[in-house]
Amino acid sequence: MSEVLRLRHLYLTHFRNYSTLDFTLSAPLTILVGDNAQGKSNLLESIFLLTSLRSHRVSRDSDLVQEGQELAEIQARCHPPQSFRTGEHGDIGIDLRLTLPRQGRRRMAINGVTLTKQQEFLGHLNAVLFCSLDLDLVRGSPDIRRQWLDGILLQLEPIYWNVMQQYQQILRQRNALLKGIKLGQFRADPTQMQAWNEQLAIAGTKVMRRRARLLHRLAPLAQHWHQNISGDRERLALTYVPRHPLPTSDQPQEWQQALLDHLEERAIAETHQGTTLVGPHRDEVHLHINTAPAREFGSQGQQRTLVLALKLAELELLETVLGAPPLLLLDDVFAELDLRRQQELLTAIAPVSKP
Ligand SMILES: Nc1ncnc2c1ncn2[C@@H]1O[C@H](COP(=O)(O)OP(=O)(O)OP(=O)(O)O)[C@@H](O)[C@H]1O
Ligand SMILES: [Mg+2]
Repeated sequence: MSEVLRLRHLYLTHFRNYSTLDFTLSAPLTILVGDNAQGKSNLLESIFLLTSLRSHRVSRDSDLVQEGQELAEIQARCHPPQSFRTGEHGDIGIDLRLTLPRQGRRRMAINGVTLTKQQEFLGHLNAVLFCSLDLDLVRGSPDIRRQWLDGILLQLEPIYWNVMQQYQQILRQRNALLKGIKLGQFRADPTQMQAWNEQLAIAGTKVMRRRARLLHRLAPLAQHWHQNISGDRERLALTYVPRHPLPTSDQPQEWQQALLDHLEERAIAETHQGTTLVGPHRDEVHLHINTAPAREFGSQGQQRTLVLALKLAELELLETVLGAPPLLLLDDVFAELDLRRQQELLTAIAPVSKP
């Protein structure tokens, strides 16, 4: 699809250790070589931010702003692949600009026009990032696996940005209410709580159905890669595991009802703990190798194979949906892989790095 854009220029201002950077990517493959702490990972992080509006390393924007500065800016010029090859791009392509103040709201602009709807920023530039932190996908907390799914969804369906924001807003308000009740600041009002439950169930279902659908598509791809890399000896299972049992039906109303029922079941525990205990913010993704949980029982090598299979599945899915390979950002991954896995990765990415 000709809509898939290529990153051509990257400009950074007060981002991490860069005061300014004006960087042109003139070839299909770019290799950054430098000493430690020179800013190679920072540069990849800045590109990744443009693709998903999230950093894979930190959650606070203030960490991204250069020390002593108030505002960081990441700007990119992207072109369609044809013009990338010929160099004749004229006015086609787009400019993406993400402004990150140390405090306050982010601003996003496309071709110099500030966006009012943040999700419009997504979907123009797509990337898959491989880095050493990826091992946390297996070893880390459920939150990391949720973020992984969300990051893919944001690139595949930019509307997911809205879906997530809505859910988080309802969750914050419901949590504030529950905390107030726990502290005796508010009186519990069943009608009010019922209204919040319904809102949470509607917004939560939207998040959960998208995550479930995504996992359903990723699982066979990951299994395939996993078999290739492990030499067909092991079987990977990837399962979406929400806090409550899902209905067997695919009807959204039934998903909402299942969430509502579980909220009611947990009502006493929630007021006791002063927080929401049910919903997609508690989702988990189970990763099993030959029926054993990879997190507890996987060897180092098995965990690395698993992570590589997950990331290759992500790459394959994005490429299939977009109709062209996404930008591939590799941060020091080869050093972490043995020869066999290096070879698998090289074979898998060969079409991506071709001109
Ligand atoms: N907000 C910030 N302001 C200024 N400097 C920062 C900021 N955040 C990170 N740095 C600096 O950026 C440097 C790290 O950059 P980066 O992680 O990109 O290095 P790298 O080139 O990938 O190195 P390595 O080869 O070790 O992975 C560190 O020196 C760190 O102090
Ligand atoms: Mg680095």
